[in-house]
Amino acid sequence: MTRQKDFWKLAIAAIQENDPASRGVLEILLTSPGLKALQAHRVSHFLWQHHLKLLARMHAQLWRFFTQIEIHPGAEIAYGVFIDHGAGLVIGETAVIEKGVKLYHGVTLGGTGHEKGKRHPTIHENALISTHAQVLGPIEVGANAKVGAGAVVISSVPPDVTVVGVPARVVRVHGKKDITEIMTLEERREASYHSAHL
Ligand SMILES: CC(C)(COP(=O)(O)OP(=O)(O)OC[C@H]1O[C@@H](n2cnc3c(N)ncnc32)[C@H](O)[C@@H]1OP(=O)(O)O)[C@@H](O)C(=O)NCCC(=O)NCCS
Repeated sequence: MTRQKDFWKLAIAAIQENDPASRGVLEILLTSPGLKALQAHRVSHFLWQHHLKLLARMHAQLWRFFTQIEIHPGAEIAYGVFIDHGAGLVIGETAVIEKGVKLYHGVTLGGTGHEKGKRHPTIHENALISTHAQVLGPIEVGANAKVGAGAVVISSVPPDVTVVGVPARVVRVHGKKDITEIMTLEERREASYHSAHL
């Protein structure tokens, strides 16, 4: 019961904090597709964890129809995540999303097709995944990182940086355009990408 209350409290607070268009709790409860999808996911995830996998998938598909947001019942999502608009958002089975993460429409937290087991991203606290960004593979997006609109992210993103483009590259570190730091981080990212694909 307490957990149920915590979910609503944190989910509504996340919307009020991040959506300048929101105009009160009643409107949020009645109209936010992200809130509906996250609440529905709690039910699907419960069914999934209790080995009612077909029922869990059917429940998730039903809510996909109403919200245009597809969340696999296996995904682990903390309370206090913010989903804005949401249409076309896809979250894969082994994705992990920590509290304070912001997700917009058209985002994919998906697999590359090369991995087995853990094959979807982990998004750490307060990271922003902008509209239509594609984050692919069992990679990590660090706490407070920002992924720009339309980016394609195929290697892990350090905390508190901004990445943009295809493939996504670091363009800001702690909010600053520090070229030396950016080049060092990019070299590390490239090395870890290649060692993961040997
Ligand atoms: C990436 C983003 C979050 C800004 O992060 P930031 O740390 O403040 O970065 P800045 O705005 O300082 O931009 C950093 C650089 O990346 C470039 N950039 C920003 N967003 C970009 C994008 N989506 N694609 C390509 N380049 C981008 C900027 O032009 C700038 O380039 P420069 O280094 O040549 O000056 C923002 O640009 C973005 O994409 N927001 C979308 C949010 C969203 O999804 N909104 C939907 C609401 S419905």
